[in-house]
Amino acid sequence: MIKVAVLGYGVVGSGVVSLLNKNAKHISKNAGQDIQVKYILDIREFPNDPFEKIFVNDFETIIHDPEVTIVVEAIGGTGIAYDYTQRCLQAGKHVITSNKELVAEHGGELMRHAQERDVNFLFEASVGGGIPVIRPLVQCMTANIIGEIYGILNGTTNYILTNMEQNGTSFSDALLEAQQKGYAEADPTADIEGFDTCRKICILSSLAFGQHISPNQVPTEGIKNVKTSDMHYASTLGYEIKLLGRARAVNDKAAVYVAPHLVNKDNLLSIVNYAMNGVVVRGNAVGDVVLCGAGAGKLPTASAVVADIIDAVKHLHTRRWIGWSQDNVNITIDPNQLESAWYIKTDASKEKVEHEFGTVLFAENKNKTPTTSVGKEYNETAFITGVMNGNKVDELLSRGIKALSRFRVLGDH
Ligand code: HSE
Repeated sequence: MIKVAVLGYGVVGSGVVSLLNKNAKHISKNAGQDIQVKYILDIREFPNDPFEKIFVNDFETIIHDPEVTIVVEAIGGTGIAYDYTQRCLQAGKHVITSNKELVAEHGGELMRHAQERDVNFLFEASVGGGIPVIRPLVQCMTANIIGEIYGILNGTTNYILTNMEQNGTSFSDALLEAQQKGYAEADPTADIEGFDTCRKICILSSLAFGQHISPNQVPTEGIKNVKTSDMHYASTLGYEIKLLGRARAVNDKAAVYVAPHLVNKDNLLSIVNYAMNGVVVRGNAVGDVVLCGAGAGKLPTASAVVADIIDAVKHLHTRRWIGWSQDNVNITIDPNQLESAWYIKTDASKEKVEHEFGTVLFAENKNKTPTTSVGKEYNETAFITGVMNGNKVDELLSRGIKALSRFRVLGDH
């Protein structure tokens, strides 16, 4: 019998306890022995909760109990979650976490603690919720040199964008719904501003390229600048607008960034909607691998956390090496160097646009009714440029074209 402690009883922690209970027999069979949650740590009271009797509010009870072999960190953030994770690893306990901020910021150091004590530090749920993405990347695709990873990595923003586009829901109503469904972070700014996506692409690219890529090295733009008119223009051109985290290898460096993109309707990611996430990993032997599924939510996230618990139970005395070098070498380059086509919305005339940008593809404004939000912006010109890097776009815009919106078009450049 393996005894587990769960730190934090929010969306993820309660999902983990619930799933371990719901699928107990099946999980024991797969793990090779029974798994019992001995403690749940939370400072809040949960009267009448079916697991009320195992709640503790003092971490010391857990850290000093030698019976606790595996600890699930589901507190979130990098405050006490960092401290507790470090102490558990140093005490020789295996730690499983879904905390992307913790892994993206302090993963290297925590991996070192795990290595020193010969225990596992596993974090499959930190990227893509319930989608298996870390194991496929570091195990199944390990023979490949990874050229690129890009994906929809945040359920909340994808939920908002999909609702705005398909149902005309306002940004704030869609955000509220995402919060009610348990997708959003405690502070949804992390979702909206792209920080959550940034942490996830940092984890994936650090694993893919073997060096720590830190959130402060990754230019990050969220979804606040995406307007319904942009979605309309993009659609007439054959695209959806999606917030992507992207990491592209450039020689022995990597361009890593987060930004809204126009994604061609032929690309599978264009139909990854609502809280679903989708990731494309490009290997030099296998080609493109597309992974998609539920990227946020209680049970999908618990699915990945519990799989890590089972993996830890099966490898109590063997280390699973999932990590990156702790050299602290900065391998990132400015993503503005990457070429692509660009979507631009401006109040400049078509003539002026053609004068500066040459041949472009103009979006047709099919909706000219002045009473609609799109119609009100009737004087706008939206277009897609030829292929050029971000610095060239800046230069051409500086010749008197004010960009009301500007997004990259995802392509193979
Ligand atoms: N807030 C995150 C999201 C939760 O919306 O994707 C899952 O990491």
